[in-house]
Order: sequence, then C-alpha cells, then structure tokens
Amino acid sequence: MNQTVLILDFGGQYKELIARRVRECKVYSVVKPGDTISVDEIKKINPIGIILTGGPNSVYLPDSPRCDKEVFNLGIPVLGICYGSQLLAWSVGGEVAPCAGGEYGKTKMIVDNSSVLFEGLTSEQVGLMSHTDQIVKLPDGFSSVAKTIDCPNAAIQNPSKRLYGVQFHPEVESTPNGTPMIRNFLYGVCGAKGDYDLKNLEKELIEKCRNQVGDAHVLLGLSGGVDSSVCAALLSKAVPGQLHCIFVDHGLMRKNEGDEVEEAFKGRDLHFIRVNAEDRFLAALSGVTDPEKKRKIIGAEFVRVFEEEARKLPNVKFLAQGTIYPDVIESGGSKAATIKSHHNVGGLPEDMKFEGIVEPLRSLFKDEVRALGKQLGLPAKFVCRQPFPGPGLAVRVIGEITKEKLDILREADAIFREELERTRVRADQYFAVLTDTRSVGVVGDFRTYDYTIALRAVKTSDFMTCEFTQIPYRVLGRVSSRIVNEVKGAGRVVYDITGKPPATIEWC
Ligand code: XMP
Repeated sequence: MNQTVLILDFGGQYKELIARRVRECKVYSVVKPGDTISVDEIKKINPIGIILTGGPNSVYLPDSPRCDKEVFNLGIPVLGICYGSQLLAWSVGGEVAPCAGGEYGKTKMIVDNSSVLFEGLTSEQVGLMSHTDQIVKLPDGFSSVAKTIDCPNAAIQNPSKRLYGVQFHPEVESTPNGTPMIRNFLYGVCGAKGDYDLKNLEKELIEKCRNQVGDAHVLLGLSGGVDSSVCAALLSKAVPGQLHCIFVDHGLMRKNEGDEVEEAFKGRDLHFIRVNAEDRFLAALSGVTDPEKKRKIIGAEFVRVFEEEARKLPNVKFLAQGTIYPDVIESGGSKAATIKSHHNVGGLPEDMKFEGIVEPLRSLFKDEVRALGKQLGLPAKFVCRQPFPGPGLAVRVIGEITKEKLDILREADAIFREELERTRVRADQYFAVLTDTRSVGVVGDFRTYDYTIALRAVKTSDFMTCEFTQIPYRVLGRVSSRIVNEVKGAGRVVYDITGKPPATIEWC
C-alpha cells in the first residue's frame, strides 16, 4: 500500500496539476470533492498529508464550499493553496477579506527560507498569483513566511500543528520553484518516503480498468496517435482477449497515414479493425464552417461508426478512448469555459449506445502518457510521435471542408514535415493549415488565385501552453518554394508566430 496524499478540490482549475506534481515527487494522491467528504472517509483514506486546492469562491460568503473544520484537528499535515489557504486560515480563527484590485500573474515574493516550505531556496522567489481575496488576520499560532508588495501573507505556517498555506500557485510552471516547495511539504512535513512511481501508476490503471470492465468486451477508438496507442497497450495488458481496436479512416488523415497506422497495428497481439469512412464523414461535414460544429459532427460520427462495429462483435459494452487531461480541461464543463470541444470529450453524442466509457489516461498529461507508453514497451516511434488531433485535418482546413482542400493540405503538410525533419530544428508539433484565404499570384504569364497555406511549429511540453518555434528563414524559404511549386492550388505560404495563449496550437 502506497503512502497517500489527499487532494481536496474546491473548484480550482489546477487540481489535476497538483496531483501531477505530487506524482512527480513520487507520492501517490487521490482527488476528492472538498465540500462533501466526511472526516470518517478521510480517516479511512489515512493520508500522510492533505492539500486543499484553489477555487473561485470567497470563503466568507455563506454558500462557498468548505470542508469540516475537524480536518484541521486530525493531526494530519495540511497545505492550503490559494482559496485553500484562505479556507485554512478562516477555519481556524483567521480573517479573509477582498484585497484592493486583486493580484494576478507572476509576482515577486520574499520568502523566509528558514520555513520548511522554502528550504533550499533563496529568499527571492516568483509565484503565480491569481486572487481577489486574501488573509488579513492570521489565526493564533500562525506566522507569515512569504510576502509580496500587495500580499503580506503570501505563505503562512503553524509548524507545531503542521498547517501550511500559500496564496500563490506552486503547481504551475509560472512558479519556477513550485515543485521544490511541494516536495518540501511532502518530504519535510508529511514524512513522504517516495514509494510511488510509473510502475505503481501502471498497476493502478490496469486494476481500475479490470474492475470497470469485468468480463465484458471493449472497443477502443485507435487513431495511431500517442494517446490511443498507449491506451491500447495498457488495455491489452489489462483485459487481454477482450479488446477490439477500431481505426476509423475518416478521410481526414495526413498523407499515407491510414495505411501507415494499419501497417503498424495489423501484426500485433490485438484485434485490429479498419473502417474506411471517408464518404460519410465528408458528407456529414459538407457545408459546415463553424469549428465547434465540425468537432461535434466528427465526435458524433465516430461514435455511430463505433456502435455499428460493436454490434458485429460479442459482448461489447464499453467504448475506450485515449482521452488525456488537457482534452478534458479545454472541453470545459459546468465550471470551466469551453475552449474547444475535443472530439472525444465535448463531441460525444448524448444517446450513445455503450454502457460506459473507459478512459484510463484521463488524469494524465502528455509527457506522463509518453513515459507510460515507453514503460509498456511501445516502440519509441509511437511514443515520440507528435500529437495528431482526432478530428484530423478537419481542424486544419478553415471554412468548409472539401476533398480538394484536404488534398492540397495533405501535400503541403507532407512537404513541411519532410523538410523540417531534415533539419536540426526541433519542434514538439508541426503541421500545415489551409486557410480559407485565397490570394492573387502570377505563374508564368498567368494569373492565379490560390489558397494560402499557414505553417505552424511549436515548442511545448504539456500542450496547454506553447511558444512558436524559431525556424531559420532559409528553411522556411525552402518549404515555401517547394509548396508553391509542387502543390497545385497552394499560392502563398505564411508562418504562424503566435504563442498559446493567446492563440491555441490548432487553428480550429
Ligand atoms: P490546442 O489547439 O487546443 O491543442 O492548443 C492542444 C493539443 O491538443 C490537440 N488537439 C486535439 N486532440 N482531439 C484530440 O485528440 C481534439 O479534438 C483535439 N483538438 C486539439 C492539438 O493537436 C494539440 O496537440
């Protein structure tokens, strides 16, 4: 049995990011709703420490989510983050009030590095702040161990009771030393031993899948991308003989990709089914220009094909998908805004004919999925592939999708990828986009009026944020010249130099 850290969620955006940081520190964690969990349940979990997440509420308002105040008397170490810190202070006798103007973004802090939280760090630190309330009176027995210009209680502690709070977010990359701070809490306060690693994660995920699926059969939507390939490897270990992998060629794949995926999976120890469904996807997408509509149509069409195929197989009750955490976050939900409905989350129809969905990777981030894939023995070729979205080139053709536009894009995209892979330039994702803009050109003595191709190449590790890749002009020049010379219908090439945020990686 691994040591466990309990993460109590109060509606913060970053709860899975906290869980991920705890995993990075080799400690197992579970996330539970903070306002409904009982003290008895907490005792049963027997955590070595509790982390309270942030959240959008004000703790002094009557309807705000709160945990039982007894949580702070259990003798279990607590680290409150943002709202969690305010909740901790308020629950044990402190005061919280609105701060003038709030405090947002990367903020300079002076920390007291004699506190265990900041051990090994210098006294000048940067923390990501995002709050409109703050602790204005410390509870008895607490002291402040970090401050910013506007926030005198940026971190608080009561070491004898092992209660700690930070107003900033140590879990995000914008707090550069956030992980060491979390590690200090886990190892210096909670007595963590670091008994959790990828092997445990694999075992845990396999066990969860087995419990969910029982002796039923599972149909996995396999695109050949990293996430669904890792999902296939995991499920083939968890429920061997009960897994069917279906690859739907929706006509929105990159050049030669359909055949490559078939080639890669055909000879493996799993039941591989390929369905050629170009006509029905293009018919369903005909005349549609709105990106969210396209995604929903594709999500629904995928499921219809899955259902049809499932009927031909014995005892298929579950649909499995390689959904990962960033897909879930961006698709929004009751509390969060929808950035785009990833086809496998927001795009699923409500009347699906499966008994349940199996998504073992749902709380993992891309780099964790790759590490898990390597451990499961997948060849580097799969694990290191750049991501390709489930809706395929549909999110890279702006405006209406037609076969003609798709063919132009496929050729241009293949040239860009080929040329970039020949250089020393390293990008985590790179592709071409067919914009809906046509422009005038001159070829020989003739006027042309062809599509503009946009090139996109980004550096990122979590795909939640990115910077554009600095590609030398001579490489861009060569790609541009090849595209306009070799691809009929492509008349101009531009390079996208926007980061995420404010843009996203894909154009749709
Ligand atoms: P964005 O465009 O949101 O993309 O910055 C982040 C990462 O997710 C991929 N992506 C998707 N993957 N289904 C997927 O499986 C989708 O609907 C989808 N939309 C975007 C995108 O390629 C990038 O790696």
